[in-house]
Amino acid sequence: MDKFRIEKMTLASLDEVMEIEALAYGQHHWSRDSFVAEIDNKISNYNCAVSENGEIRGYMGLWKIIDEAHITNLAVHPSYRRKGVAKVLLLNALDECYADKIKYLTLEVRVSNASAINLYESFGFRSLGVRKKYYQNNNEDALIMWSENIFSENYKKRYEKLKESIGELILK
Ligand SMILES: CC(C)(COP(=O)(O)OP(=O)(O)OC[C@H]1O[C@@H](n2cnc3c(N)ncnc32)[C@H](O)[C@@H]1OP(=O)(O)O)[C@@H](O)C(=O)NCCC(=O)NCCS
Repeated sequence: MDKFRIEKMTLASLDEVMEIEALAYGQHHWSRDSFVAEIDNKISNYNCAVSENGEIRGYMGLWKIIDEAHITNLAVHPSYRRKGVAKVLLLNALDECYADKIKYLTLEVRVSNASAINLYESFGFRSLGVRKKYYQNNNEDALIMWSENIFSENYKKRYEKLKESIGELILK
């Protein structure tokens, strides 16, 4: 089983990040300049999941706005999918939200992106709306997904279960 540690995204991460970004999103991927701006942005927080041999397997970005965290980007290298990389990144995002007293997480996802929708649902996110024609390249709708209040007793129970099942994937 592969294990991963979480590291802050830095300018030195960007060669590997850009390779994954292009593989994950094709021609509609973010530019290197977008990541540079995000790393500099005070409200944003970008992390990478790094393998034991030091390779970046995936990354995730958050904007923290008052008591909400907006997931801005999440991608995993196609050769290392279905190994729990995204779960490790999302669990880390929850840990950071708990530490920063952020109550809700939210994101937009393409209605056709079943893998990502399954992932977010397994973390208890629910679809609470649709942004019509949100994606300009093909006019696809976006689902707007939200967590419940992560400080609720109900969510804390879910978080403990997630931590138990995902914990073995995290490099200590
Ligand atoms: C979505 C994505 C980030 C998932 O990354 P991953 O590391 O493979 O995901 P994990 O291995 O942590 O899987 C977590 C859960 O997601 C769901 N999932 C992931 N891939 C799936 C697939 N191909 N089919 C169905 N469910 C899937 C499952 O619920 C899975 O849990 P399980 O393996 O216990 O069944 C990855 O497929 C990706 O980078 N896609 C392209 C970019 C993208 O769409 N990003 C999301 C934008 S909102």
